[in-house]
Amino acid sequence: MKFLTSLLFLLVLSLNASNYPSSKSCNECHENIYREHISSMHHKSSIFKDEVHRKVKNAVNKDKYSCAICHMPATKNLRAVMSGEEQPNPQSYRQTDGVSCFYCHQISKIYDSKAHKINFSNYKGEKKPTVFGNLKKPYESNEHNSKSNEIYKNSQVCMGCHSHKQNKLGFEVCNTKNQHDKTSDCIGCHMPSTTGTIEKEDKGMRENYVSHKFLGIHSQQMVKKAV
Ligand code: HEC
Ligand code: HEC
Ligand code: HEC
Ligand code: HEC
Ligand code: HEC
Repeated sequence: MKFLTSLLFLLVLSLNASNYPSSKSCNECHENIYREHISSMHHKSSIFKDEVHRKVKNAVNKDKYSCAICHMPATKNLRAVMSGEEQPNPQSYRQTDGVSCFYCHQISKIYDSKAHKINFSNYKGEKKPTVFGNLKKPYESNEHNSKSNEIYKNSQVCMGCHSHKQNKLGFEVCNTKNQHDKTSDCIGCHMPSTTGTIEKEDKGMRENYVSHKFLGIHSQQMVKKAV
């Protein structure tokens, strides 16, 4: 009996783990966006793919990984990793995926708490989860439902992690607020429209998609723009 229950438990665990869509799973249909994303700092945001980040993290605290809430947010054991109760696991794609496709696309709203901002999750473990975006009349996908959400248009979706935009010297490299104290148009500058298909079959015959390279200080071109 004990054996059976632990077997069931394991089964439930592994089912759960395979439910959460990896970034790689999006490549089946969103090739262009996937190719850009894996070259971006969002994909490389965790200690597994950013050496600078790993070194700074270890200098700050060897055991705790409080940075995970922004740098490795999709992990299931977020609290335990942040408090140091559990250590990061290189076998877990939910961790090595960093700021993953699905993590970003299931943020339903941003909550302003006193200390910091919090990303609200829409994901409840469904087999066919909902992804949010800003497309007009998205085509049906058998992998997910699509829903439009204001925060993917007014850039609020960036603020859960980026509300305190500073470089290493504490200098504000680009404004996060406009003159009316609203979030500035992060998406307009950092996700320019690019020629190509959104998904492989291109049922929508759309000619453009928004870039997912998220260029910043690692790009000569972007730094020149700022100058
Ligand atoms: C509130 C969200 C948040 C938390 C918590 C956080 N970071 Fe970051 N971090 C960011 C964002 C967003 C950037 C992107 C660049 C920027 O804003 O300067 C970044 C950039 C960095 C960079 C620059 C990476 C590079 O390659 O240039 C380092 C290093 C870094 N963070 C280390 C840490 C460490 C170490 C911790 C934990 C002790 C931590 N961060 C906690 C959001 C966060
Ligand atoms: C089996 C194919 C398929 C897979 C796999 C897939 N998608 Fe999609 N996705 C689509 C189609 C089709 C559309 C609609 C495209 C259109 O209307 O031009 C779409 C649209 C979207 C949109 C826009 C929704 C909106 O309302 O604006 C987002 C965001 C998205 N997908 C994210 C993802 C993410 C994240 C993954 C991986 C976890 C993923 N997709 C995997 C087929 C797929
Ligand atoms: C879940 C948290 C999270 C969200 C949401 C998020 N980012 Fe980031 N972003 C990060 C982290 C963490 C980094 C830094 C990664 C590193 O350098 O280690 C980063 C890096 C960046 C960079 C710098 C890339 C570089 O090469 O230096 C840009 C630009 C950026 N994000 C733009 C955006 C925009 C625009 C949005 C909204 C559409 C957004 N981000 C949403 C966490 C987030
Ligand atoms: C008017 C265009 C514009 C807007 C609006 C804008 N940015 Fe930027 N951003 C830039 C440029 C250009 C750079 C490159 C400058 C540099 O790195 O010195 C940059 C750099 C960055 C970086 C990289 C800095 C680093 O230290 O690695 C991040 C992260 C970033 N922006 C996030 C955001 C977020 C989040 C928003 C919205 C709240 C936003 N940006 C709004 C143009 C813009
Ligand atoms: C940092 C957050 C973030 C990450 C990570 C991210 N996206 Fe997006 N994505 C957005 C935002 C914001 C939009 C809507 C921008 C707009 O419409 O102006 C978007 C739009 C889309 C769209 C609709 C295309 C269009 O032209 O509007 C698809 C499809 C999509 N993303 C798929 C993906 C896939 C697949 C990945 C990973 C390979 C991914 N996204 C990673 C934030 C993100």
